[in-house]
Amino acid sequence: MPDAALILRPATRDDLGFLQSLLPRFVGFGLPTGQDEGAVLAGAAQNLMAALAAPQSDSALLIAWVEEEGGPVRRAGFLRLDTERPLFGKPYAYLADLALDTWAEGYGLGQLLLAEAERWAREQGLGQMQLHVFATNARARKLYAQAGYTEVALSMSKALRRG
Ligand SMILES: CC(C)(COP(=O)(O)OP(=O)(O)OC[C@H]1O[C@@H](n2cnc3c(N)ncnc32)[C@H](O)[C@@H]1OP(=O)(O)O)[C@@H](O)C(=O)NCCC(=O)NCCS
Repeated sequence: MPDAALILRPATRDDLGFLQSLLPRFVGFGLPTGQDEGAVLAGAAQNLMAALAAPQSDSALLIAWVEEEGGPVRRAGFLRLDTERPLFGKPYAYLADLALDTWAEGYGLGQLLLAEAERWAREQGLGQMQLHVFATNARARKLYAQAGYTEVALSMSKALRRG
């Protein structure tokens, strides 16, 4: 795995099974209290299906393939990127999904994927990347902080009892 090359290719229908196999990664770190795991999974699946079914010129669903020296090419993870156009202010890139398969974690591929996401954004002429991350996702938060992302807003939640 060290010195492995990362190759990004647009996702096709052939990647559907792989993408679906990574869905549990979006809840595996332990969701914050009160978050509905089923809803998170369903939302993630729906977004992936929509991106696969109708690719847009200002968004991307990219599969990260790893080619080990002399070894087989294998799917390691994926990126989903969008362009957001706020009413006020400049359009910006949005990192909608980033995930690695478990076997691909811990080798620095997350940083490589993030760099590829930023390269895509620059190629789109966008000058800023934004993302959301659950507060309990310590691993992803560290990845983003190490890449220079800073916290912008704090989202808070409380379950309300009936009556
Ligand atoms: C987030 C993700 C892409 C990071 O993969 P990766 O780059 O291989 O991650 P690493 O193993 O290098 O971990 C990143 C950093 O967090 C640290 N880390 C690992 N597990 C951690 C944990 N449980 N808590 C805090 N830090 C942790 C690592 O030591 C590393 O820091 P270092 O570079 O100083 O050693 C990968 O874990 C993943 O796909 N997670 C599931 C999907 C997900 O959460 N996506 C983000 C949604 S916003």
